[in-house]
Amino acid sequence: FLASNSVYSVVEKLIFLSLYYYIINIITVKILTFNFFSQNYKDVAVLDYRAPSLAANSISTHFSGDREAAVVLDVACGTGLVAQQMKRHGFGHFVGIEGSQAMLEVARESGLYQDLKQCMLGEGQLPVQWGLFDVVVFVGALSVGQVPVDVVKEYCKSTKPGGYICMTTRSNHDNLQYKASLERELKQMEEEELWTCVESSQVEDWERAVSEQEHGYISGAVYIYKTL
Ligand SMILES: C[S@@+](CC[C@H](N)C(=O)[O-])C[C@H]1O[C@@H](n2cnc3c(N)ncnc32)[C@H](O)[C@@H]1O
Repeated sequence: FLASNSVYSVVEKLIFLSLYYYIINIITVKILTFNFFSQNYKDVAVLDYRAPSLAANSISTHFSGDREAAVVLDVACGTGLVAQQMKRHGFGHFVGIEGSQAMLEVARESGLYQDLKQCMLGEGQLPVQWGLFDVVVFVGALSVGQVPVDVVKEYCKSTKPGGYICMTTRSNHDNLQYKASLERELKQMEEEELWTCVESSQVEDWERAVSEQEHGYISGAVYIYKTL
């Protein structure tokens, strides 16, 4: 569908991706959508989807431990773009959780993950051990119609004390309400002394806009917290 060869022009790909974004905002079909797009997810390059590299850069700036030994939990790992970027910064142990079986298959083929589990976030128990991970990342999945905000608090428990949690979200119009509730949750968790904020960055050129109401690039945000 989103073939990466020259048969499709950039404009055609942007049209397909607009459709993709429209569809993923419908909760009931979101995982089917990711199953459908899994084989061609790398084509998000057309969107200048920079969240995985921006998150990996931020983690790399703050993490001072042994990167090779560190165990990273990649929540909603998709096809593995975040592990790919973190590997470039010296991280070597990844566990992935993902709702879409087809995305998981692509992540498995990457050979980057020691373990991969299928799990719908927000539905039921944590599929991982508490206090096990040095770094937990949520990239591209904390947005309207995807992962519920309260999942963040649950996953905070899977991080070691002194570990890092990195999250990204979009700041465009359709995600503003979600972003505000995510930021309320992050602040509330800081007041509960579960963690402390080490970075909260707003990024202007996050990725290309794909809706009719927006042009150029939409903005986004990267947050890094350290557990107490
Ligand atoms: C935009 S992709 C991001 C994937 C990857 N983190 C990256 O940055 O390339 C969002 C991913 O979240 C997954 N996802 C969305 N909602 C989910 C949920 N409630 N439970 C599990 N996975 C979910 C989708 O299947 C998809 O693979």
